[in-house]
Amino acid sequence: MSGPESARAGATVARLALASLTTLKVGGEAEVWTCDDDHAVREATRADFRVIGGGSNLLVGDGGVPERVVRLGRAYADARALGAAGDAWLGAAVPLPGLVRHARRLGLSGLEGVLGIPAQLGGAVVMNAGTRFGEIGDTLQEVELMLDGRTVRVPAADLGLAYRRSALPPGAVVLRARLRLTPSTPERVARAEEAVDAARRGQPKARSAGCAFKNPPGDAAGRLIDAAGLKGSRVGGAMIAHEHANFVVNLGDATAADVVQLLERVRAAVEVPLEIEWRRWGLPGGEPAARGWDLHAGPATGTGAG
Ligand code: FAD
Ligand code: EPU
Repeated sequence: MSGPESARAGATVARLALASLTTLKVGGEAEVWTCDDDHAVREATRADFRVIGGGSNLLVGDGGVPERVVRLGRAYADARALGAAGDAWLGAAVPLPGLVRHARRLGLSGLEGVLGIPAQLGGAVVMNAGTRFGEIGDTLQEVELMLDGRTVRVPAADLGLAYRRSALPPGAVVLRARLRLTPSTPERVARAEEAVDAARRGQPKARSAGCAFKNPPGDAAGRLIDAAGLKGSRVGGAMIAHEHANFVVNLGDATAADVVQLLERVRAAVEVPLEIEWRRWGLPGGEPAARGWDLHAGPATGTGAG
């Protein structure tokens, strides 16, 4: 952390190294607004902003970002709202691993496929996080968004969920999500999780942001990168993992520039075009920031998922 911290109603504002908020541990600074109620989120999104969840699918440039980074605080992180009925609204900062465990204890089925994904619920919705065993979209009913300073509810069917993507309207902050799980037993849920766990066992434990590239149709990026002989290939502190070639690991002192150079090397070496799965901030071709709602020239726009 650097710079002074200040408190505003419902929010804590501090300049932070975004490296500290991402699993890859790379990235420069930004003004981070940690919000503990919807009013604070509304205030935080008046000016241009970005939203960070678990930071587990993010590559942030070494210069950080000039916009506010909005983060949902503890008030949005309680998994216990999910009860035995299996149908509940949950805060978007609920960590997925804890939610998966909680559902298993309650004997609720539906989240087995997202076992082992270090996302927050909101980030999981945005990326439609999943594995070949299931995606968050399978259980998602509805989301509540902060959009242009207003809260709106959107049915999951209108979110354009597909393989590692959604079509949320630009500038939408997922505040809450309603999941519907199916009554089962803890034993059956644990048994279904075994296959997912087995599929993940070969993945690296070192700092990463998960798979760097989406799988191209009919093939696996990991297989292609491996076949190109790139395991162990290194730029500075960034390396293609020995365990799984679609993971870039941070050996400790990687910079975003190292990671970008390594990704370019991969794309040059693999003949099939590979699409980067990570959201990138403060880097060429990266995700644009959302416009602050108070800065719109005209009246606030739409309430649908667009
Ligand atoms: P972040 O990385 O913080 O953000 C991702 C995007 O979502 C950004 O555009 C951000 O602006 C947006 N966002 C986040 N929260 C909100 C919100 N509340 N409102 C609006 N926008 C928001 N992914 C898989 O799908 N399957 C896997 O098996 C998998 N395995 C992984 C294993 C490891 C070890 C790691 C590190 C990552 C893995 N991932 C996997 C990638 C990652 O966990 C997912 O993409 C996840 O959905 C990202 O969620 P997050 O909360 O960390 O989002
Ligand atoms: N392979 C290799 N070499 C490697 C890695 C993989 O040859 O270094 C081969 C494997 O032998 C297998 C194929 O590639 O034949 C697919 O590999 P794997 O079973 O590991 O699955 P994946 O397609 O690489 C996907 C997701 C993961 C998810 C796992 C488990 C993508 C891009 N990746 O990996 O998601 O955890 O399945 O279901 O869809 C993520 O999205 O961040 C992520 C980690």
